[in-house]
Amino acid sequence: MKKAILLSLIITLIGVCNISAQKENSVTVNQLVVVANHPGPVISKDIYGHFSEHLGTCIYGGLWVGTDSKIPNTYGIRNDVLFALREIKVPNLRWPGGCFADTYHWKDGIGPQSKRATIVNIHWGGVTEDNSFGTHEFMKLTELLGCDPYINGNVGSGTPQEMSEWVEYLTSDAVSPMTKLRKENGQEKPWKVKYFAIGNENWGCGGNMTDVYYADNMRRFSTYLGSHSGNDLYRVACGPSDFNYAWTETLMKDAATRNMFQGLSIHYYSIVDGWGYKGSATKFDEREWFETMRMNLQMDNIIKGHSAIMDRYDPQKTKGLVVDEWGNWFNVEPGTNPGFLYQQNTMRDAVTAAIHLNIFNQHAARVKVANLAQMVNVLQSVILTKDDKMVLTPTYYVFKMFRVHQEAQLLNIDLRCEDYVNGTKKIPAISASASVDRDGKVHISMANLNPNKAVTVTCPLIGETYKKVTAEVLTSSEINSFNSFEKPDAVKPAAFNGFSYKDGILSITMPSKSVVVFELTK
Ligand code: AHR
Repeated sequence: MKKAILLSLIITLIGVCNISAQKENSVTVNQLVVVANHPGPVISKDIYGHFSEHLGTCIYGGLWVGTDSKIPNTYGIRNDVLFALREIKVPNLRWPGGCFADTYHWKDGIGPQSKRATIVNIHWGGVTEDNSFGTHEFMKLTELLGCDPYINGNVGSGTPQEMSEWVEYLTSDAVSPMTKLRKENGQEKPWKVKYFAIGNENWGCGGNMTDVYYADNMRRFSTYLGSHSGNDLYRVACGPSDFNYAWTETLMKDAATRNMFQGLSIHYYSIVDGWGYKGSATKFDEREWFETMRMNLQMDNIIKGHSAIMDRYDPQKTKGLVVDEWGNWFNVEPGTNPGFLYQQNTMRDAVTAAIHLNIFNQHAARVKVANLAQMVNVLQSVILTKDDKMVLTPTYYVFKMFRVHQEAQLLNIDLRCEDYVNGTKKIPAISASASVDRDGKVHISMANLNPNKAVTVTCPLIGETYKKVTAEVLTSSEINSFNSFEKPDAVKPAAFNGFSYKDGILSITMPSKSVVVFELTK
């Protein structure tokens, strides 16, 4: 209690000084106060999660090429992509959808590959799905990545029996028809599965259900999802999208009396001008840049709104908010299959990623999992591939720079900053978050949203002093700079020296449209 009062006093005092300085000089002073000596909640590594759906070339071509491919691979998974993904420390991977999940019958994707069922992918281009990538291949991928599997079950067109058997097949060590089948397919020991979702977007592509109908179904399916053989299953109920608070209210009211799920999902995409014309991923003007940032920042309000409802029913925060789809959604690249959602990725997407990851860090007490949509070749990807070529996107580099926050403790910050103005609209010019890791190193991640202007920021660190400060920056010459197969290194991080550290205060000059991560060592 005393700690909290002291903290708010420090922040209020600095705030008062800042406001009076602004009044006297009528100059905006950008100030980021970091309270370094009172660490808060742990930032779950799982908010740095990813998502891989059977959609376009995310799985086929992007992650999986098969063991007979000329592209170097390990058990059919392409090596270049695998090695790049290891660098960003992927904590969990969601699969097989998305909308695909509620059409997926897992038994189609096990056993000898030549005998697997061939189906139509009804949501994504009507293409043929030969099921050569199934449960065993996905579990091998997570093992090679060193990450936790996050499997999304089928409520929309599946049955409780099918879902329950999948969990048993995956995680049980008992004697049963499902464990016998798994062993016949070459996997003697059960796997560990951390996260399991009970349907996806069941208000839409997952069955067009009402909240009440879904809540009833979720309970029915969840009843048969066991935590087998020491595997502690974290069941994720399908939550709302965007600002649909009524759905959250229904699910949380239900959760107050029955413990049928541990996490509630939420989806939010930034779609600048609506579903009709979503704008180009690479050819855009400053208005579209600004609108993208404005929409990205809405994530904070959305989390606050849903958290407030969750807090009423679950004040102890035993249930996590699982933001298992987020990112920018633009028009597909010209000439590509509209059902494949293939888009390029620019400096704008890098700032988007920084804004979101800073917001998730700030909500560490409630947000326990988040998954960028999607991992390779779909929407705001970290990696793009073309045949045997691979490109790391600006978004990839933000995940690499921000990985230092995984499992670190959130630090309290107070940010007062100038606006970034576009026409009659304005948004804060700076996004930030800070954490302290197990070795006592502090990391501060910041983004300058303004593409026209460098910003200077004064950053006092309260309570600790540091011997060494280093930083990395990601920026670019143009708002739409991107990495192509011809020029793969157009946007990449570099050492940053636009700062000084004296008397416990960092003085920073951030370039326009940039992302910077500081490391302070005692
Ligand atoms: O990520 C693409 C699609 O967006 C997913 O399949 C679905 O869940 C969402 O609507």
